[in-house]
Amino acid sequence: MFATFRNLAPALRLNGVNVLRHIHQKPALYDANMLQQQAFINGEWISAKSGKTFEVLNPANGEVVGVVPDMDLEDTEAAIKAACDAFHVWKDTTAKERSQILREWYNLLVKNQKEMAEILTLESGKPLAEANGEVVYGNSFVEWFSELSRQIRGDIVQSSVPSKKILVQHQPIGVVGLITPWNFPHAMITRKAAPALGAGCTVIIKPAEDTPLTAIQIVKYAQEAGFPPGVVNLVTSSRANTGPIGKLLCEHHLVAGISFTGSTAVGKILYKQCAQGVKRLALELGGNAPFIVFNSANLDKAVDGSITSKFRNCGQTCVSANRFFIQEKVYDEYVNKLVHRVKSLKIGDGSQEGVQLGPLVNEPQLHKVAEFVNDAVSKGAKILTGGKPATHLGKLFYEPTILTDIKEDMLVYNQEVFGPVISLIKFKTEKEALDIANSTDVGLAGYFYSEDVSQIFRVSNNLEVGMIGVNEGIISCAEAPFGGIKQSGLGREGSHLGMEDFTYVKYTCIGNLS
Ligand code: SIN
Repeated sequence: MFATFRNLAPALRLNGVNVLRHIHQKPALYDANMLQQQAFINGEWISAKSGKTFEVLNPANGEVVGVVPDMDLEDTEAAIKAACDAFHVWKDTTAKERSQILREWYNLLVKNQKEMAEILTLESGKPLAEANGEVVYGNSFVEWFSELSRQIRGDIVQSSVPSKKILVQHQPIGVVGLITPWNFPHAMITRKAAPALGAGCTVIIKPAEDTPLTAIQIVKYAQEAGFPPGVVNLVTSSRANTGPIGKLLCEHHLVAGISFTGSTAVGKILYKQCAQGVKRLALELGGNAPFIVFNSANLDKAVDGSITSKFRNCGQTCVSANRFFIQEKVYDEYVNKLVHRVKSLKIGDGSQEGVQLGPLVNEPQLHKVAEFVNDAVSKGAKILTGGKPATHLGKLFYEPTILTDIKEDMLVYNQEVFGPVISLIKFKTEKEALDIANSTDVGLAGYFYSEDVSQIFRVSNNLEVGMIGVNEGIISCAEAPFGGIKQSGLGREGSHLGMEDFTYVKYTCIGNLS
């Protein structure tokens, strides 16, 4: 999977020529009427019981690209009931049967990869080359967990009493609610749904209101792959209904667990809502990733890594570098190289050839980025490039921005900007860099560049994050555990650990054996 993201790096570096050449470039690729635009409950494509709908907009130009059901609590109740009924059958299928259906789902997703990427660009604004990369990345979780679902094992443990046998097995937890974000509309669904389904759980997917069309496509291929009715359910809703639906999923007695990717603020609300029922909870929340460039670093590699880590999905990525710490000896050289590269990034409608940076996803996102930059400037930060909305391109575009003279009281220093903004901080010693990097209550990803092998081990050990890129700006893949420490979340997705959130450990003692 790293290979997929390696494709993104040249796309960002070389105006995307090599990657984009292979991708269909026409904008407005889909007529809204041709897209599947319903929700999916108990094996049927349906509208909301209320008949209400909401519009899906293309962030690049504000055009309506879809109209989907605005479901509410009544519809969600129906989805929970269907998932619960289906669980009693699905949990008793063999691992081989589940694995085969997952594999078929993967094959269909791969077959329809190009179409999926186009839809993803249409509703998220992500450049097509990146959308294509996300689809490959997202598909890889289905492939990975189709393989891993056959590897769930138990133990027979040595008892200290001869007449007893100790058996340990892993069982599916039941119905799970998967609440997914708009920034990775494909991969965040498959990273949760594939392990849940492989473990024997049934799922209710609640995609973000900005990006339901990709979710609908994913579920369409799940249906074609042969998941029985009720095993995979999809509830779409507007922003207004999202909070109540999330609450119902967290509090419903028939739902065994929740897996959520999104902001730390919303994660805390769901954590509280799950407490009453002591629900199983997986949380992939926000970060404030440090990106440290030490004196010994290869600066060209560090600049490459800065661009790929920061500008992936226009900075709307929870593992994006947020605070850039540069050691004083290499500060000027690094900054010169970085400014040059950032100034050459091509920004525009993601469906157009060569575009490396699309729009932000919606108005709240644009306002947040503008607020963070304005706050920094009002407190003394200087702009090296960018620093304002790119209104000539459309309502939601923001120039790739570099800020210096960053201080501790600025929003860009303390919080995740989730946009195309680099904040530069000069430091003297390794200890100083680590102290500042760790002085935050979140800890998702961190990056550093160094050619000093002792420093590599020291800093890796001491950075307080769940994932580290050493001389590397892109670290996500199906095989590695994705997740954070501190307030960045609970649990791990992907890797051999990714099914743990969806299984209970059951211990059986067989006694009085003669
Ligand atoms: C995220 O930003 O939520 C996920 C990014 C990734 O999987 O790399």
